[in-house]
This record gives sequence, structure tokens and C-alpha cells, in this order.
Amino acid sequence: MKISITGTPGCGKSTISKLLSKRTGLKHVNVNRIIKSKKLYSGYDKKRKAYIANLRKVKAYTRKLDDVILDSHLSHDLNPDIVFVLRCRPYELGQRMKKRRWRKAKVEENIEAEIIGSISWETRKHKKVFEIDTTSKTPLQIAKRLESIINGKSKKSDKVDWLK
Ligand SMILES: Nc1ncnc2c1ncn2[C@@H]1O[C@H](COP(=O)(O)OP(=O)(O)OP(=O)(O)O)[C@@H](O)[C@H]1O
Ligand SMILES: [Mg+2]
Repeated sequence: MKISITGTPGCGKSTISKLLSKRTGLKHVNVNRIIKSKKLYSGYDKKRKAYIANLRKVKAYTRKLDDVILDSHLSHDLNPDIVFVLRCRPYELGQRMKKRRWRKAKVEENIEAEIIGSISWETRKHKKVFEIDTTSKTPLQIAKRLESIINGKSKKSDKVDWLK
């Protein structure tokens, strides 16, 4: 079982992944951290101050893993069995990012990506994808919801469109 927790940066992927890992026993894998530590990148984007992932290498690394929660905005591309796209109302996403003191340009870029729904769009061809609106929800509420989908007790996916 491979679970992907994806979504715009700052939407709560790591918070939810850690909690879900505690509750289910599935291992939490912070893919972005592994990209750095195992050097699974093809370069460094100076402007964004971020490594450019080498998807081929990341896929080769994660292929060997099982019973994991893949935590990354790239994780839906890593052949998961289920994809959870965490969504967050742009205003609240901005508040969450402010708490983390990110650069203004990065905050704005991420808010824009969430408004457009770019990650959600990238996941559209996956056969088992659930959109989860995390706005005004506690991490525990969200983790419980994910659990019930994983256990087959729920099939509810949210229809999120911030442009409406
Ligand atoms: N459901 C929630 N309600 C309120 N705040 C939250 C919630 N989930 C996460 N946060 C807060 O939002 C911030 C970003 O969360 P987190 O680091 O989990 O996001 P992320 O998606 O992993 O980000 P990144 O893509 O940069 O790794 C943190 O300060 C976290 O405490
Ligand atoms: Mg994270």
C-alpha cells in the first residue's frame, strides 16, 4: 500500500502525514527531504532556493518502498495506490504560510497555484484520487477522514473550485 499526500506547499501535507502515520502504522516518508539527502536532484534553482527533483531517480527510489505515506507535492507521480490532494482556501493557506515565515514571493506563488488548482489538475488522470478540503479543519479531523477512505468506509471526495 502506497499512499500519496499531495497538495500546494503549506497546505498541511507533513502535518497530516505524520499524524496518519501514527494512527495507521504506515511509514511517513518525507520525499522532499529524501531528494536532498539521497541527492535525487538534477540541479538547484537559485531563484526559488530549491532543488530540482530528478523524477526518474525519485521514482526508482520510491518503487522499492511499501506500506508508506509519500509526503510531497510530487508524490502523486510516484505510482501510489491512493492519492489525497489536500486543498485549502487561499486566504487560510496564506495564514498558514505566514506562520512559517516564508518569503512573500513564495507565499504569493503558492496561493496562486492553489487558486488555479494546479496540483489537482496534475492528478486528474489517477484512478483513485480524493480531494480533501482542509479549510477550518483540525489535523485530527482530516487524518480521521483519510483513514476512513483508506479503510473503505468512505468514498467522499470534495469538489473544490476556488474560482467559483
Ligand atoms: N489543518 C490545519 N489547520 C491549521 N494549520 C495547519 C493545518 N495543517 C497544517 N497547519 C499548519 O500549516 C503550516 C504548514 O503545514 P505543513 O508543514 O504540514 O505543510 P506542507 O504541505 O507539508 O508544506 P511543504 O509543502 O512546504 O512541505 C504549519 O505551520 C502547520 O502547523
Ligand atoms: Mg511538508
